[in-house]
Amino acid sequence: LSGEKLKVLLDHREEVRQTLAREASSLTDRVFHRKIYVRGLIELSNICKNNCYYCGIRRGNHNLHRYRLSQEEVLQAVKLGTDMGFKTFVLQGGEDPLLDDDFYLDLVRKIKDINPQAALTLSIGERSYQSYEKLKKAGANRFLLRHETKNKKHYRKLHPKEMSLENRIQCLYDLKELGYQTGTGMMVGSPGQSLDHLVEDLVFIQDLEPEMVGIGPYIPHEDTPFSGEKPGSVELTVFLIHLLRLLLPYANIPATTSLNTLSPQGRDLAIQGGANVYMPNLTPAYHRKDYALYKDKACFNIEAAENLKDLKEVMEKIGYDLVMARGDFEVKHV
Ligand code: 5AD
Repeated sequence: LSGEKLKVLLDHREEVRQTLAREASSLTDRVFHRKIYVRGLIELSNICKNNCYYCGIRRGNHNLHRYRLSQEEVLQAVKLGTDMGFKTFVLQGGEDPLLDDDFYLDLVRKIKDINPQAALTLSIGERSYQSYEKLKKAGANRFLLRHETKNKKHYRKLHPKEMSLENRIQCLYDLKELGYQTGTGMMVGSPGQSLDHLVEDLVFIQDLEPEMVGIGPYIPHEDTPFSGEKPGSVELTVFLIHLLRLLLPYANIPATTSLNTLSPQGRDLAIQGGANVYMPNLTPAYHRKDYALYKDKACFNIEAAENLKDLKEVMEKIGYDLVMARGDFEVKHV
């Protein structure tokens, strides 16, 4: 859809919401047959060299207990997840300068030794083409890197000068070129964001054709320069999930933790209207609270891997089947 048409839809949400929700739901059913795929999320390190104004683990936040999992802790989490039946692991972390290529190469290989069938997703920020290439060769399958916003001015409102939108976008095209199943996305309602910015995001996403798209409402964190800002809208997030599903029929789209944190109802509406993935938290419990990207991030209830049974029940109640399969991106003719 062109930017003009997207803007019309966003401007007339009240009139088109029901139709989009219904169409997105029916398309998702045809493609995914009411299956919800799970990914075990392991939050590697909350040490970050970046200073994004919205993020709780920004370099400038000194009010935070910093941690970095040891290789042993990560492998332990993978073993635990493997025993639970997880077939996809997402390693996510801040851009921790000590976690270099050698660390990740060794880790990727060891994870693949423990669970050769599992899909491995990295979410470790901006790196060089060569680094992405080495990690891919070592066995990484997927990569998540939200672009956060496609608008230059808005990007500058969210990030200090030392970071650049060009580099972020280049990284995404590099990942695609290298054959990663690539995920991008943006926060909804981040400070300074307008509907026009979201249109730019959607136009960009259609150009990139990512295999995964993660979006969630912005939630303020008290120890950031944006502490006084308002959270993003659950309603708009869910609407965008309908739209993304219709634009990218086969993409893996999670009901994200931030959506779940703000509103369990929003999470269910997302599942019923386009999302097909959920990412339970497998981080060692004693570090979970420290990976606080935003206020009151949910991590101990149904978003915890140890409560998978509860998640299964919640999904069954709304008519969906939680499945452990890898759930690779696949074009399915429906
Ligand atoms: N609110 C919501 N989402 C956030 N993220 C970072 N900080 C916040 C926040 N305050 C998101 C970013 C990042 C992802 C891992 O978490 O979009 O890419």
